[in-house]
Amino acid sequence: MERPLLAIESSCDETSASICLEGKILSNIIATQDVHARYGGVVPELASRAHMENIVPVVREALMAAGTSIGALGAVAYTRSPGLMGALLVGAQFAKSLSLSLQIPLIGVHHMKAHVLANLLNEPPPDFPFLCLTVSGGHTQIVLATSPYDLKILGQTIDDAAGEAFDKIAKLLELPYPGGPLIDKWAHLGNPDAFVFAKPQVPGYNYSFSGLKTSVLYFLQQQQKLDPDFIHKYRADICASVQSTIIKILLRPFKKAMLETGIKQICLAGGVSANSGLRAAFADLGKRYQVNVSVPDMVYCTDNAAMIAISGWYQWKQQLFTPLDSPCSARSEWA
Ligand code: KG4
Ligand code: ZN
Repeated sequence: MERPLLAIESSCDETSASICLEGKILSNIIATQDVHARYGGVVPELASRAHMENIVPVVREALMAAGTSIGALGAVAYTRSPGLMGALLVGAQFAKSLSLSLQIPLIGVHHMKAHVLANLLNEPPPDFPFLCLTVSGGHTQIVLATSPYDLKILGQTIDDAAGEAFDKIAKLLELPYPGGPLIDKWAHLGNPDAFVFAKPQVPGYNYSFSGLKTSVLYFLQQQQKLDPDFIHKYRADICASVQSTIIKILLRPFKKAMLETGIKQICLAGGVSANSGLRAAFADLGKRYQVNVSVPDMVYCTDNAAMIAISGWYQWKQQLFTPLDSPCSARSEWA
């Protein structure tokens, strides 16, 4: 019988551990680091320290919740790239120590590929090939997945990521970090057509968000000159209009890729796929063009170890192991 796989995610500000057995997730424990909120963004050094504090209790809880023990493990997976270097190293060193002491395979996982493969945790999972829109705090990508081992980037952002746009605009609106979920909340109370913002377009299936952020900044500066209380009075309408603009920007190249590739299965991934407006727009896109839509459960959209576990499990099946001396990488090299 197969032995369980332990996966660890520590690339940014969530310390998470998950147990996977025969491709099924038995547990997924996530410790979110609240320490960053007062700084308006993730502070790398504080993230590393919090991972150090969290990692043992989080792994212990994941083992307990899955009804297994450390000695029973058959493999250990961890996020190898991309992410904050100090944060990645905490998970990597923990995983390497376990691999060495238990003499079990070590499996380094690419965080962005894992976001895409989080869709395989759906019941039923999407069929291959599928086209995935990955939208997170650091990345915006259109990925063509022909198998769990073959993921190709068709397009991506040339500047800010969608999540970054949400967070930076939220900051302009005096909302705390991470502002994406708060814009989502406020958007429910506002009119998406109240204000018009720039929708930058770039060639191919690529994205640009920096123009939108500047457009919102100038708009707010102008309005505040006329009414210093503008943001407070119109926050819901601004949030609804910003969210609707980001969704329109996201869907344009994705729809183009979907129609030009003729792929009939589309997926969402990454933290921003928790956005209620984007989920609704995606469902609508599926209905309109008669393609199947897969969106991960909320808990598998934002950073979590279950997506590292399922990705690591597929790598395990193909004996795609990582040597102990393999370094982590802050960058997103895709190979
Ligand atoms: O994938 P993720 O958890 O971390 C990265 O790998 O970046 O994504 C985090 C991003 C943040 O920018 C956050 O504001 C955004 O996802 N986010 C949302 C929502 N929930 C999380 N953005 C818009 N609406 C949401 N409901
Ligand atoms: Zn992520």
